[in-house]
Amino acid sequence: MAVLEVLKYPSPVLNNKALPVKEVDSKLKGLINDMAETMYALSAVGLAAPQVGKLLQVAVIDVTPKEEGKNLIVLINPRIVAKEGEIFLEEGCLSIPGYREKVKRWARVKVEAMDEHGEKREIEGEGLLSIALQHETDHLDGMLIIDRISSLKRNIFKKNMKKQLLAKEQG
Ligand code: NI
Repeated sequence: MAVLEVLKYPSPVLNNKALPVKEVDSKLKGLINDMAETMYALSAVGLAAPQVGKLLQVAVIDVTPKEEGKNLIVLINPRIVAKEGEIFLEEGCLSIPGYREKVKRWARVKVEAMDEHGEKREIEGEGLLSIALQHETDHLDGMLIIDRISSLKRNIFKKNMKKQLLAKEQG
């Protein structure tokens, strides 16, 4: 098991659509274990494979509060099959460190996916789990939270990011 490096915006990998997994083999299980370890090490509630440089439809989620232990959800080839309601809360992303913004999401979603044993399963989520399910499936579609906010806020974000990157190059 290993903690993997997480790609940061503006890595172009993050804008690509991930490919469906054809077979749950030992190599994929190794990736899932490493992704889970990375998520826990960074105290995140979710991580998608493109964030660690693998363009595969794989994500891990755990929205359980730390003091209540672990409840890992593995999503392979996930698909949102039902959605309802609306929720509007601040989100962050390991690929955009330090940035938080309110994102409009479905309040409840149902997702069909395979688990780490290749078994088909259905996950229903509301609140934080609903947000995490949408945030991670967005990653697999090449979308980040900045693609879900108003163009005004996105432009401000991009301007600030450009300044930061320039400052880094010059510093
Ligand atoms: Ni993210």
